[in-house]
Formats: sequence, C-alpha cells, structure tokens
Amino acid sequence: MTVTTLPPAVDRTPARTGAATVRRDLRAWVADVADLTEPDAVVWCDGSPAERQALLDGMVAAGTLIPLDPVLRPGSYLARSDPSDVARVESRTFICSRAQADAGPTNNWRDPDAMRAELAGVFEGSMRGRTMYVVPFSMGPLGGPISQLGVQLTDSPYVVVGMQTMTRVSRRVVAMIDAGASFVPAVHSVGAPLRTVSGTAVADVPWPCNDTKYIAHFPETREIWSFGSGYGGNALLGKKCFALRIASVMGRDEGWLAEHMLLVRLTSPQGRRYHVAAAFPSACGKTNLAMLTPSLPGWRVETLGDDIAWLRAGPDGTLRAINPEAGFFGVAPGTSVATNPAAIATLDHDTVFTNVALTPDGDVWWEGLTPEPPEGLVDWTGQPWEPGCGRPAAHPNSRFTVAAAQCPTIADSWEDPDGVPLDAIVFGGRRATNVPLVAQAHSWEHGVFLGATVSSEQTAAAEGTVGELRRDPFAMLPFCGYDMADHWAHWLRVGATLDPATRPLVFQVNWFRKDAAGRYLWPGFGENVRVLAWIVEQVDRARGERTDVGAVPSPVGLLPAPGALDTSGLDVTDEDLRALLDVDPRTWAVEADLTEDFFAGFGDRVPAALHHQLALLRERLSGT
Ligand code: GTP
Ligand code: SPV
Ligand code: MN
Repeated sequence: MTVTTLPPAVDRTPARTGAATVRRDLRAWVADVADLTEPDAVVWCDGSPAERQALLDGMVAAGTLIPLDPVLRPGSYLARSDPSDVARVESRTFICSRAQADAGPTNNWRDPDAMRAELAGVFEGSMRGRTMYVVPFSMGPLGGPISQLGVQLTDSPYVVVGMQTMTRVSRRVVAMIDAGASFVPAVHSVGAPLRTVSGTAVADVPWPCNDTKYIAHFPETREIWSFGSGYGGNALLGKKCFALRIASVMGRDEGWLAEHMLLVRLTSPQGRRYHVAAAFPSACGKTNLAMLTPSLPGWRVETLGDDIAWLRAGPDGTLRAINPEAGFFGVAPGTSVATNPAAIATLDHDTVFTNVALTPDGDVWWEGLTPEPPEGLVDWTGQPWEPGCGRPAAHPNSRFTVAAAQCPTIADSWEDPDGVPLDAIVFGGRRATNVPLVAQAHSWEHGVFLGATVSSEQTAAAEGTVGELRRDPFAMLPFCGYDMADHWAHWLRVGATLDPATRPLVFQVNWFRKDAAGRYLWPGFGENVRVLAWIVEQVDRARGERTDVGAVPSPVGLLPAPGALDTSGLDVTDEDLRALLDVDPRTWAVEADLTEDFFAGFGDRVPAALHHQLALLRERLSGT
C-alpha cells in the first residue's frame, strides 16, 4: 500500500481536554482502518484548490462527474447517483449507545459491541482497489471556542470534494490534533471494493455504492461509521452525523445545543439588527428563508447558515449561535429566480449538482427553475426526457453543493468564531391545516413545547412516503443522537441559564397552510419577511423598545394583532388572512390528544414542564 504525504507525528498521546473527550491517536487509528479496509493507497488531504481540481478531473475521467459548460456554468459538474442512493436512509441509521434508553424511542438502537462486530465484517476489505482519503476538518471556524474537529476517512473522491465544500478541510486540523485537540473519527466507505478477475481489476461504476447500508453513531466514544452510500447526509459525515447526532450528545454533556436550524441576520428599515434561528424539517424551507430576498422595502436579510446551528450561552447571558458548516447542500427543485434569487446567484459557478437534469448546451435544469423546461433534456438517470412523460426530469431530492462564501447575501459575520447573539428562535413544519402562519410562545417553556410538538408532512429528503404527517420535534427526529425527551429537558435547562432580559423569544410558523382546494394560502418565499418583521418587532416590544400592541392571545400562542402584520401590497385576501391565522379549538383539541399520545411514547422522561404546557393548552382551548 502506498501512503502519500503523511504529515510527521508531533504528539502521539493527545491530552484529555474535557470529561467527554475520548483519547485517541490519529495515525494509529488511520493505520487501523487501513488494515481493516485494505485500500490500495492512503492520501492525506490538505483541502487545497489544487487537490480539489485534481479530484474533480479524476472523477470526470472516471465518469462520476459530467463537466458543465465552462461559459454557462464555470467550474461546475453534474453527478448522477445510483438510482437507489438518492436520500438519507433513516431505517439504516443507528445510535449505538451503551444503554438502549439513551438512544430513546425515536432512534434505531444497536448494542455498540454487536454493531462493532457487524461493522468489522462489512468494512473488511471494503476499500480494496480504491484510495482511502484522510480528510481533517473543522466544524466552525478553525480554533473557534464553539468549533469542533473531525477526521473523515473515505474511499469516495465525490465525498472528499463535498467535505471540502461543506466543512473547513485543512492540514492545520492535523497540527491541532497533534497539539492535543480531540477529534471525532468518522469512517466512510461506499462499500464497493474493486474486484480483480485473474489479476485484472474489474471496471468501476460511475457511482459505486452498496444495497446494504449502515449509518452508525457511537455517542459515548464520539465515533461515526458509514457504509454503502455516497449520498450527502449519509456520506458527508461532518454534516448530519457529526454536526447533529454526535454534536447533540456533546452539547447535552457540555451544556450547549446542536440544532437543525438556519441562521439569519435581519436589519430593519431603522437599521436595527436581529439574529434569528429557525428549525424546519428537511425540505421545509430553511435554505429559502436563509437566503430570503425581502419583499418589504427597507428590510434586509443576510445569510449565516442554512441547515445547522450550534447554540451556546455566551459570557453575557445571551444565546450565541454559529453555523458549523462552510457550504450549502441544498434542494434544487423549486429553486428559481422568482423563489430564491440569492441561491440562483450562488450557483452561478463552482457548484456540484447531483441528480438534476442536463440541458443540450451543458447546463442544468430542475422542476421549477423555469416555467417551461428547455427542449432536449436528459433526466437525472441519463435518459432522454420529454414533458408529460410521467417522470420528473430532476430527482425530487436533487441537490447542489456550493461554498457559502459564494452566496451574495452572506453576512460579514458568518465566520465570527464567537457566533451571533440570538433574538428569536422559530419552529416550523409543513402543515396543510390547523397550524397558523405564525404564533409566539407565551414563555420559554411554551416555546420548548412548541418545538417538541412540531409535526410535518414527510418530504423526499429521506426514504418514506412523501406527504405522510409525522411528528418531527425540533426538526430533529432523524438527527438527535440521544433520547428526544432528554433533548427537551436539555432545552429547558439551557434556557434557564440565559439572561431573561435577552433570552430569545420563541415562535412557530407554517408557510404551507392550504385552502379546501389545496392552494397555498400564503405566498411564502420573499413575503416571509413580513412574518420575520413581526417576530423581531415582538422582540422590541418584549424589551420595552416599542409600546404599541403587537399581539393578541390565542390558545396556541400570541397571534399578530389586527394590522400588526404588514400586508401592504400583498395579494392575499382578508378571508385568506383570517384562514391563515385561524385556530379551531375542536381540531386543536384533537391535536392535544395526539400530543398526549406522542408524549406517552417517551414515558417518564418527558419533563413535567411539558405535561404542564399541554394542560395549559387544554385549559386555553376549553376557555374559547
Ligand atoms: P433541507 O436541505 O432538506 O434541510 O431542506 P430546507 O429546509 O433547506 O428546505 P428548502 O429551503 O430547500 O425548501 C424545500 C422546498 O420547499 C423547496 O421546493 C422550496 O421551493 C419549498 N419552499 C421553501 N420555502 C417555501 C415557502 O415559503 N412557501 C412554499 N410554498 N414553499 C417553500
Ligand atoms: C436534510 O435532509 O435535512 C438535508 C440533506 O439537509 S442531508 O444532508 O442529506 O441530510
Ligand atoms: Mn437539512
């Protein structure tokens, strides 16, 4: 086996830097994994542009990537995955905590020793004929107080390029580990060793993967093992596996929060700045809200992050947030100049598209990009495509991978290692009925209740039946690395450490309410700034900086008072507005019963404060 450019060892016994830190030796671990998986070569990555270009060129030669037209889409490529490898596989995602109870009822649990034995079997020789890349990365700005280090081993150049975009890949990470910093080890294999027949390697396929998949997490030892998939959330291990599942456990143990949240800076016409974090389930509008182009004059929205936020109480008692990622892995369908012009501008160049359609002139297309598809499209599977053929041209979960720095609305503070102070936290889901456009929580505890009870119609971002309603507490159902009810208790604890004067206010939103004919009642996208504006005006009122009445009570929370939501110039009838803010006590009584059943599934781990909130909701409902 050849090993290229292994950096010299500085310190083979990193110090234990915290109670939760796991002592491990980087080079010994890399050697152990190489012994197990038997790659032909081991390459230590440095994250440089030259390295990225060489990997891209290699993937073009191998047929994994199609270069797009250099004038229309410079530096950009199309990848077509295996048709079976297009989304996260929640059924094969495991939390391997020592005690089953610590994984909670919403995760697939496996005994860690049994899982290790199983993984040893599947990883044995799994990289044969391939190169194993060592990818040292930081989640968050390198060396920042909220940041964390990881090292991913992978036999997929597509994954290396994706990690380079989505995280901060750098040799400095190796130096920091050598100097004693702890790191999360993450092993990934597409699970497709190249066989040799009579001494000759059998040709590779464009998108190697394996029908057997494992996305396994060991929360106590802070380890990730992923097998069989090249798809983003299964394979770019810095993202959901580390920044949410493992980091949520780190946060539980160390007093901070890892959340499935976008992060924006909002500036009012008066020049006041606010920071808002919002948790919506997968494919429910985080990237769109993060890059929102405001329809209201004078307001400005700047992007800090579109998928994950790490939240930590600052020394001043505010809740500070960073985006631990460095890029966007966003949903393509529905993205257009009309819905998300900032995203369209971001994707101008140096973007890797996965599973979108290809135009005859070497550009990309997806449903919603333009009202009419161009002629002569090739669909995401490589077949000629005609409108009306009954198949989508782009896969519904087709995605772009692009550096955050390319986004025209990126905030200048997006890489501030200390994070930004949050003024408001928003929970949302995709609900055709019942849930109003916006409601404000009565208290932090009520806010945690709103987060804990989010439900949403399932999307194409994961395997499963699209449209089926499911509870997705904190939009973290597939991403919390420990017992979900403990997560709620942790939120209550963290809230109690914050200064009540500056503690973020909590809200619930729903952009997806429909009328009886199935039409969206709310125009969404750029018009969502109207809701954000009301939210931060409520922050001003809570802080005594405004004295006008902004809200009226309802059983589910405070709703915008008549006139408080700016609807000037908006093409929404008064009747639609009433329907958007309608709270029907009868259907909400049913929701409350469903919440009781939902809570029962977590047994006695549900915090008493949340049972109390449910009782208060019922009281308010019966009072109406
Ligand atoms: P993940 O990357 O999977 O976490 O998704 P996300 O939460 O970032 O969702 P994204 O912003 O990519 O939006 C997903 C889909 O919802 C796209 O097809 C959007 O066009 C659509 N969408 C986003 N915002 C709105 C909105 O305000 N109204 C409506 N009707 N659709 C929206
Ligand atoms: C999601 O599904 O929430 C995503 C895409 O953001 S993935 O990285 O696959 O998780
Ligand atoms: Mn997401």
